[in-house]
Order: sequence, then structure tokens, then C-alpha cells
Amino acid sequence: MAEHEQENQPLKVPTGGYSIDLRDVRKVYRIGHEDVEALRGVNLQIPHGSIVAVTGKSGAGKSTLLHIIGTLDRPSSGTVVLNGTDVSQMSDQAASHFRNGSVGFVFQMNNLLGEFSALENVMLPGLIAGAPRAPVAERASKLLQAVGLGSRLQHRPGELSGGEQQRVAIARALVMAPPILLADEPTGNLDQRTSHEVRELLISVCEANKVTMILVTHDLDLARRLPSQVVMEDGRVVEGGGFA
Ligand SMILES: Nc1ncnc2c1ncn2[C@@H]1O[C@H](COP(=O)(O)OP(=O)(O)OP(=O)(O)O)[C@@H](O)[C@H]1O
Ligand SMILES: [Mg+2]
Repeated sequence: MAEHEQENQPLKVPTGGYSIDLRDVRKVYRIGHEDVEALRGVNLQIPHGSIVAVTGKSGAGKSTLLHIIGTLDRPSSGTVVLNGTDVSQMSDQAASHFRNGSVGFVFQMNNLLGEFSALENVMLPGLIAGAPRAPVAERASKLLQAVGLGSRLQHRPGELSGGEQQRVAIARALVMAPPILLADEPTGNLDQRTSHEVRELLISVCEANKVTMILVTHDLDLARRLPSQVVMEDGRVVEGGGFA
């Protein structure tokens, strides 16, 4: 085990001004005797505060890339540096600690907990991190107001529309004030108008808070409206990616 991990202190490296910096990232899944190369050498440097769309055909490696950037999975080789922290080979424990404070996620399936209110769902990451209840509740409530749900704090997910649930998920992703937000098809289950609203909301909260966002989508219209685009094909970045 590396020395920095023993101390539970992630390795710090120079950021080069990037929020997200991937060098030759590869991911191979072994299924039986067969290797599936999901990522085949991805290089991606994203400056702080950028808002980037990632598109590409089904199976191109978009979700794999997002999982690896978000420390939910590790690369088979290559390096992943997030705001100056090398997360490529962190232990599970160090990764989950790092992730809770540094990365927010919004997925197509919002994974809200059905037995908790909107407010409680948004508060959860703060409570898991051991933050005192009152300030977490205040921040969660402000975020829910910011996403237009000030009158829905006590509603449970089942008592909210799909678009409202996704707005709760966005508020939850931001409650720890993460510098990085990763969204995988966040509007995939929504009608066109709601999808438009959620997209605009994501862009405005990221701009207002200087959050770096990567948004994976099959919706090319949505992708074109984001300031930068990256296209993936067969485990590689084939367009965009160098933002220097
Ligand atoms: N856990 C896994 N085990 C084995 N193979 C996997 C695993 N996850 C993904 N793959 C494979 O890796 C490749 C990339 O998958 P990934 O989910 O990243 O694609 P994607 O671009 O997100 O596709 P979609 O647009 O359909 O969501 C695919 O060929 C997939 O079958
Ligand atoms: Mg995917």
C-alpha cells in the first residue's frame, strides 16, 4: 500500500489548472475468459468551471468514463486527477470519503429514497458526512428553493413528478458544494419541456457555483447547447477533450 494511503491522505499532484485530468485511462472488464475493453486510452483535460457534454453511441464507454472520474470505479491503467488529487488507485474507503465531499452525481434513475421527504433526501449526504443537522437542513432547504421546490420540502419522491424528482436529485448532488458534478442521462426519462427545464437548471447552478460539470447524453440538441462537447467512440475520445 502506498504511503499516502496509509495516512489516509490522498496523493496531491500539480493540477495544471485542470479540474479533471485523465491520462491514457484504460478500463478492461473480464467476463469469463473474454476481455471487454470499455476504455482504450482516454485523455481528457477539463478546466475548472467548464460545462462539457459527452456524447457517443451506446457502448462507447460514456458511463464507464463517468464512473471512473467519479471514483465509483478504478481504471485498469492510466491516471485520474481531480482538482489536484490523484484518485486512480485510492482504497475504497479513501475513495468514498473523497467522493462524498468532491463529486455530485445525477443519474437517469434518480435513486431518491422513497420513505424520506425531499428535504431529507437532499440532507442525506451532509448527514452521512457527519455534519450537524441544522445547517445541513438550512442548506438543503435553500437548494430546494433554488430548484423551484420550496413548496415541496415535505413531499416524498412518490408524491412528486418525474421532473420534480430530478430537481431534488440535483439539489442532493449539490448539498456538499462539490467542485465537480457528473450527470449521466439526467433528462433521459423526462418529456421535452421538463428536460429543457432540468438542463437549464443544471447549467445555471453550475455557472453560479463555478462547478465543473460533465453531462452524458444521447440528446444531441441538449449537447449542442452546452459550452463544450466531447464525442466518444469505441472507448476513445474522438472529438474534443483538449481544452487547453
Ligand atoms: N461491469 C461491466 N462488465 C463488463 N462489461 C461492461 C461493464 N460495464 C460496461 N461494460 C461494457 O463496456 C462497454 C462500455 O459500456 P458503457 O456503459 O460505458 O457504455 P455507454 O457509452 O455508457 O453506453 P449507453 O449509451 O448505452 O449508456 C460496453 O461494451 C459494455 O458492454
Ligand atoms: Mg451509459
